[in-house]
Amino acid sequence: MSTLTQEKKETTRDSFPLNGTDYVEFYVGNAKQASLYYQACFGYKLIAYRGPETGYRDSVSYVLEQNKIRLVLTASLTPDSEISKHVAYHGDGVKDVALWVDDAEIAFNTAVQRGAEVARPLSQIEDEDGVIKMGSIKTYGETIHTFVERKNYNGVFMPGFQARTSSRKIDPVGLNFVDHCVGNVELGGMNKWVKFYQDVMGFKLLITFDDKDISTEYTALMSKVVSNGNGYIKFPINEPAKGLKKSQIEEYLDFYKTAGVQHIAVSTDNIIDTVSKLRENGVDFLYVPEVYYETVLERVGQIDEDLEELKKLNILIDRDEDGYLLQIFTKPVQDRPTVFYEIIQRKGAQSFGKGNFKALFEAIEREQELRGTL
Ligand code: FE2
Repeated sequence: MSTLTQEKKETTRDSFPLNGTDYVEFYVGNAKQASLYYQACFGYKLIAYRGPETGYRDSVSYVLEQNKIRLVLTASLTPDSEISKHVAYHGDGVKDVALWVDDAEIAFNTAVQRGAEVARPLSQIEDEDGVIKMGSIKTYGETIHTFVERKNYNGVFMPGFQARTSSRKIDPVGLNFVDHCVGNVELGGMNKWVKFYQDVMGFKLLITFDDKDISTEYTALMSKVVSNGNGYIKFPINEPAKGLKKSQIEEYLDFYKTAGVQHIAVSTDNIIDTVSKLRENGVDFLYVPEVYYETVLERVGQIDEDLEELKKLNILIDRDEDGYLLQIFTKPVQDRPTVFYEIIQRKGAQSFGKGNFKALFEAIEREQELRGTL
């Protein structure tokens, strides 16, 4: 009996505890302007800055926040830096999906022992507000995960950064936290990276979508979703599948040049209010034709929201055994057709909107057609 109890304990213990997403860092060509875009269009507030004025010579970083979401926008001030090269090669994109941990040393060492490659060694930085410990590992493409320990830090973000406030009036749009963060990887890469998250961070495989689930007349992709022990971190990993025309994943890889982050899904408690504000602020969304709304209630059943209002805002609906969800996707937020956002409101549903895949991918194909990349 005692063995059985111990074994059970062992299998339910989280072997890699993560508290959530600490920040998402983008390398961009012009952080000053990108920062204003996120403030004006997405309602983020500026909270911190690092650059020459704070004694940091080579790059600038703007830290933006909305509820539990923190974005860091970093640009280089020199032509030959790692950041400059990253931006020249990939365009603006996500460099770091940083994960908040209680003990960075344990997280980093465990990950490396389990086979992760070091991106940045373990370090400790401090100022009068305390100490931050962190270390980074490599994941798909040139993307990294930094493990951030901030339990002994009381400052606004990190040592080296100064508190800043927005110079414009900020109207938050109700974005709460990062729901999931999706990676696009090369053909054949999906299982490799699923195994990486399973082996290195003890993630569990949550869902598998094959090319029959995610295909239109022309294009297809495959996807597997992995999630950490407490379910706060969810990473769907996509790879292209064979179709008559070029899939959106191939288009992404053509433009980003390597695997990378495709979309960040952010949650809201009131998607109608959030999307109304985002549209007013000039955020562009993918268009799904009105015919979608003619049959959607037959598929998803009763919902609390007014269908006309959802149709007006072009918000999509899906249901699983736990409830339903509302979601919408922006167009890419930089010049290359790479990173975009999903706005999601979960009303019980824990899935990812499988019922909308077809309508959504047809919408993406229309955009690809305009770009001449289908
Ligand atoms: Fe998503």
